[in-house]
Amino acid sequence: MPSSSVATIAPARRLRGRLRVPGDKSISHRYALLAALAEGRSTLANYSPGADCRSTLACLRALGVAIEEGSAGAVTVMGRGLRGLRSPAGPLDAGNSGTTMRLMAGILAGHPFSATLTGDASLSQRPMGRVIAPLARMGARIDATDDRPPLVVHGGRLTGIAHRPATPSAQVKSAVLLAGLHADGTTSVTEPAPTRDHTERALLAFGGRCAVEGLTVSVPSGQRLQARSLTVPGDLSSAAFWFVAAAVLPGSRVEVEGVGLNPSRTALLGVLRRFGARVEVVPGTPGEPDDEPRGLVVVEHDRASDLAIRPDEVPGLIDELPALAALAAAGVAVSVSGAGELRVKESDRIAVLVAGFRALGIEADERADGFVISGRPARPPGGVADARGDHRMAMAFAIAAMAAKRSSVITGANAVDVSYPGFFETLDRFVASSDKLGAFGHV
Ligand code: S3P
Repeated sequence: MPSSSVATIAPARRLRGRLRVPGDKSISHRYALLAALAEGRSTLANYSPGADCRSTLACLRALGVAIEEGSAGAVTVMGRGLRGLRSPAGPLDAGNSGTTMRLMAGILAGHPFSATLTGDASLSQRPMGRVIAPLARMGARIDATDDRPPLVVHGGRLTGIAHRPATPSAQVKSAVLLAGLHADGTTSVTEPAPTRDHTERALLAFGGRCAVEGLTVSVPSGQRLQARSLTVPGDLSSAAFWFVAAAVLPGSRVEVEGVGLNPSRTALLGVLRRFGARVEVVPGTPGEPDDEPRGLVVVEHDRASDLAIRPDEVPGLIDELPALAALAAAGVAVSVSGAGELRVKESDRIAVLVAGFRALGIEADERADGFVISGRPARPPGGVADARGDHRMAMAFAIAAMAAKRSSVITGANAVDVSYPGFFETLDRFVASSDKLGAFGHV
C-alpha cells in the first residue's frame, strides 16, 4: 500500500461478533530472538504478521539464522546457540520497530563483530541512549549521533551489571537481560515500576534461567537455551481497539478468542470496567508449560463515564492509551497524565492524537505529559485525521470515527500493517455483519 493510503470510516451502529486478532507483537519478537539464540529447531505458531515482527526475522536472517515461514504465522527457526550469530554483510534494518532495534542491540553487544542497526524515519528519531548507556557499561561500544539511530554496535566480551533505568521500559530491561545472557557474571535490572515480563517468561520457556525478586530481574551467566515449540497468543493491544468500540457503541458485544492474558498487559480490562463496560474473561487451559496465559475476553456496552488515567497506571497501559482515548467518542471526558513517554513512541502520540481527534471534531488538548479529551460534542461531526505513520493512531482514529455523525477519512491508514495487517478490512466486515439484526457470528 502507498504511504498516502486512505480509509473511509462510515458511522457504525454497533459491533457484534467473535473474532481472533493477530499474534502478539511483543511476544513474537522475543520468541524469534530467543529461538535464534537457542540450540535446535524451534517452531513458532501464530507469529505476528505485522511489519515489525518481519523486521526481526529479516535481521536474524542477515545474521545467519535459517528461518522458514509457512502459512498462518508458522515460523521455524534453526537456532545457532548463544554467541552463534554471524557478522552481517550489510546494515540490519529494524524498519519502524523500536523493539527490534533495542533488543537486537542487546544481543549484538555480546557478539564479537560490528553491526549497524538502521530504521525508518520515525525510528531514526527515537531515543537510544537508554540502551546505549547500560550496554556500554557492560563493555560494548556503540556509535550513534545524538543517541539516535543508526547504531553501530561493536560487540565483544561483556561483564554483568546491576542496571536501574530511570524510566520503566520493557525494551530496555530486555536489551540488558539479553546482553546479560552473553556476559560474565550476573546481570540485573531493577525497574522503577513493573513492565511487561515476556522476556522473563520466554527465557524460562527456552530452558534459560532468570530470577525475579520484586522489581529486580537477574540472569546468571553460562546459560544454554533449548529449542521449543510455542504458540503466540493474540495481541491484547490489537484487541483493545475492538473492546473500546464495543464499550462506546450501544448494543455492542465483542468476543476475542485466544487473546493474551499476561497480567502485565491486562490493566486495560480494569479500565474498561471503570468506564462502565461489562467485561468477562474466560481463561484458556495452557497448552505447554511456560506458555503465555491466554483466553476469551468478552466486552459489552453498558454505561459510559468520565475516565482519568493516573501516572501510576501508565506503564501497564502504555500501548493502549491511544485506544482508550477513543472512549471519549462516547461523549465522556478522558484524561491521561504522567505519560510523557508517549512523545517518543512511533510518533509523538500526544501531539498526533490531539491533532487527529480535533480533526474529527472532538475537543482535545495537549498537556506536557498527557492529554485531555472533553468528549464534546457528544456526537462528533467526523473529518479527516492523519495517522502520521503510526499504526495505533490509525486504529484509534478509526474507532473514534465510528461514533461520528458523518463519514470520516483516515490518511496514512496503511500504518496498521506494522501490527495489524487487514485491520480496515476486518472493520468493514465486522460493521456489515453486526448490522444484520440479531446477527452474532464469527467475523
Ligand atoms: C514493548 C515495550 C513498550 C511498548 C512497545 C513494546 C516491548 O515500549 O510501548 O510497543 O515489546 O518490550 P517501552 O519499553 O519503550 O516502554
